[in-house]
This record gives sequence, structure tokens and C-alpha cells, in this order.
Amino acid sequence: MKNGTKRIITDNLILRKFKEDDYQEMYDNWASNANVANNAGWPVHKKIESTKKLVKMWVDEYKNENVFNWIITLKDSNKAIGSITVVSKDLNNRVCEIGYNIGEDFWNKGYGTEAIKNVIKYLFSLNIFDVITAACFDDNIASKRVLEKNNFTKEGLLRNRVIINSQKKSLLQFSIVKEEL
Ligand SMILES: CC(C)(COP(=O)(O)OP(=O)(O)OC[C@H]1O[C@@H](n2cnc3c(N)ncnc32)[C@H](O)[C@@H]1OP(=O)(O)O)[C@@H](O)C(=O)NCCC(=O)NCCS
Repeated sequence: MKNGTKRIITDNLILRKFKEDDYQEMYDNWASNANVANNAGWPVHKKIESTKKLVKMWVDEYKNENVFNWIITLKDSNKAIGSITVVSKDLNNRVCEIGYNIGEDFWNKGYGTEAIKNVIKYLFSLNIFDVITAACFDDNIASKRVLEKNNFTKEGLLRNRVIINSQKKSLLQFSIVKEEL
């Protein structure tokens, strides 16, 4: 695989590789926000050191060309507002799964939809994936909506599949196949 986290420029956004010094904005804008973390299903960052360590690890991972992990920045202000990542891939079956987060201050402005749209277009263009999947908690209205707006199809409900903050949650599974782009 020759291509990895290629810079992607969209109408309002620049998607690029993380740099080590992005940790402060990531912590401030989404990693320390419980509403983002709980909806996404990862532990909220209580200390900035956790974010710093994670970003350093991600930057190191770019040595591996088959990593797809973008920080989402606003074209106009350069502000870092979120991330979008291939969280798993199965190259034999030509399938990958995406995950994404947008900081709460930037919700409902179309940025999540725009990031997903351009990332799936890029991933399909590589000709290594025929199916892209995504999963969200069944009560995550915004995430369901951004997938529907990008022509993903709901495939099923995985009942009581995860426990978040002692609460059982069901997962909705979505996918898009290349021909549906
Ligand atoms: C999911 C997420 C990425 C969406 O990003 P975003 O930039 O706000 O998305 P957009 O603005 O492109 O679209 C959001 C859509 O959800 C709709 N929406 C949001 N909250 C809603 C609610 N409570 N009821 C009805 N619709 C709602 C918006 O109206 C919009 O749809 P529309 O364009 O048809 O009006 C963002 O909310 C997020 O990061 N949440 C926390 C982390 C997370 O859930 N990650 C995904 C894990 S699967």
C-alpha cells in the first residue's frame, strides 16, 4: 500500500496528519469533552499528558504507510476540530471501518458529513477497499445522521454490545459499498 494519510482539502476543511504539537488543541477541543468521549465510546482525557502521549504514538505510527489517521482542521482558521481514522482494516476482504470525532463547539455545522464524504471517496479511490463500515451507539442521533447523509446503509443492531459508564449500549452497524458512492 503506497498511500496513507494523504492531505485532503475540502470546501471548509483540511484533513492532514497529526503533528506532535496538536495535542493541546485536541485536548481542549474534543479529547477532554465527556459528551464527545461518551458518544464515541473512548475514555475522556482527564489529563493533557494522556492526549500528548496518544498524539506522539499516532505520529510515530505514520512510519507505517498503511495508517489512515487524519486531524480535521478548519481551512479558514487552521483550528483543529476533530479527527477521522480508519480504526480497522481487513485487506483480504477489502473492508475497513472508520471512526470520527468532532469537538462539541463545532457540531451541527456540516463538518462531520464533509469529512466523512471526502475520506470515503479517497479510501475507495485507492482500490484496496470495496466496503467501508462504521458503527455508532443506537442513541447517537448525529452519528446516524452523518452516515445516512453519506449514503451508508444500516445493516443491523448489535444488542447490549458494550458497557459505557456502567450502562449497556447497543451498537448500530452501517456500511457503504463502493458502487454506492
Ligand atoms: C457524530 C459527529 C461526528 C457529527 O459531526 P457534526 O459535524 O456535528 O455533523 P454534521 O453537522 O455534518 O451533521 C449532524 C447532523 O445530525 C443532526 N443532529 C444532531 N443532533 C441531533 C438531534 N439531537 N436530533 C436530530 N438531529 C440531530 C444535525 O441536524 C445534522 O443533520 P442535518 O444536516 O440533516 O440537519 C459529532 O456529533 C461527534 O463527534 N459526536 C461525538 C463523537 C461521536 O459520536 N463520534 C462518532 C462515533 S460513532
